[in-house]
Amino acid sequence: MQIGPHQLRNNVFVAPMAGVTDRPFRQLCKELGAGYAVSEMAASNPRLWASEKSARRTDHAGEMEPKAVQIAGADPQDLADCAKFNVDRGAQIIDINMGCPVKKVCNNWCGSALLQHEDLVERILHAVVGAVDVPVTLKFRTGWNRENKNALNIARIAEQAGIQMLTLHGRTRADGYTGDAEYETIAAVKASVKIPVVANGDITTPEKARYVLEKTGADAVMVGRAAQGRPWIFREIAHFLATGTHLPPPLVAEVRHLMSEHLQAHYAFYGDFLGVRTARKHIGWYVRDLAGGEDFRQEMNKLESTTEQLRAVDQFFESQWKYGERLQYRLAEEMLAA
Ligand SMILES: Cc1cc2nc3c(=O)[nH]c(=O)nc-3n(C[C@H](O)[C@H](O)[C@H](O)COP(=O)(O)O)c2cc1C
Repeated sequence: MQIGPHQLRNNVFVAPMAGVTDRPFRQLCKELGAGYAVSEMAASNPRLWASEKSARRTDHAGEMEPKAVQIAGADPQDLADCAKFNVDRGAQIIDINMGCPVKKVCNNWCGSALLQHEDLVERILHAVVGAVDVPVTLKFRTGWNRENKNALNIARIAEQAGIQMLTLHGRTRADGYTGDAEYETIAAVKASVKIPVVANGDITTPEKARYVLEKTGADAVMVGRAAQGRPWIFREIAHFLATGTHLPPPLVAEVRHLMSEHLQAHYAFYGDFLGVRTARKHIGWYVRDLAGGEDFRQEMNKLESTTEQLRAVDQFFESQWKYGERLQYRLAEEMLAA
């Protein structure tokens, strides 16, 4: 799998998720087998570029290549300038977000709201592709709503504009995250273009990844929510796709170690005050479905210092030893109830 000059390690990607796939988490996903990661979305409005949040989102120091930055907006010139700004700061691939259903984004005519305006989509894509000399890719949904699924039109416009890869989430903007993602439209898009297509939506297991690849003919799969608290899902999927066999769940000792590394990288990235607070959701995801996880999460949320948080997480994972040397999700809950 290749994007422009960049050869990727495999075709299992981590999805951009604002507030989740910050640099430390992207790095972890890549270390644990993700073939590619895209940064959280960066605003195209130049007034926001100097904000602390934007500065963090455009900080790629030490990140495994290729460094891909996602941009969102509705004004072709702003987006072109934003793409240039990010390429000057090290972005090697620019991804345009036309998939976000969030009101804050859509009210400003960006994200998936743009799908309603094919002429504007065309102008945006031409402006961004013309502004930078790195590959430009597009992430979008199947349409505005189920009555207006125009993914095939958008894909054609994108290919003609010089977009080098499409990522399609198998839901419409109106669907939000409800219902099941559908893969027929992704298959139709894949069959209609020559550029690589990435299938996204509801991929939660290695089997589902294989099913989606077979069903759509897509070149790669992209995993979002299922990676929250389980960044090793990428090596599990990649291994299954390559061999047809399952890797065992991770060792408790490995998770204990990587949690400690993840948290320390997280604190270094956000600073201690913000770091402790923003780490809570990650910790909550890691312990979800583990024995005692919910009680632990509630107690951990009260801790205010990095030292206390690190120690508590370490002790929690140490306690998981009693269920076996590998993480035991549901089984551990059942043992607790027995
Ligand atoms: C918390 C959260 C934040 C997200 N932020 C973005 C974003 O910044 N850009 C984007 O293109 N998609 C964003 N998405 C959508 C995901 O990239 C992905 O398309 C969606 O979650 C479906 O994949 P999944 O079923 O594997 O989670 C976000 C999703 C979630 C859950």
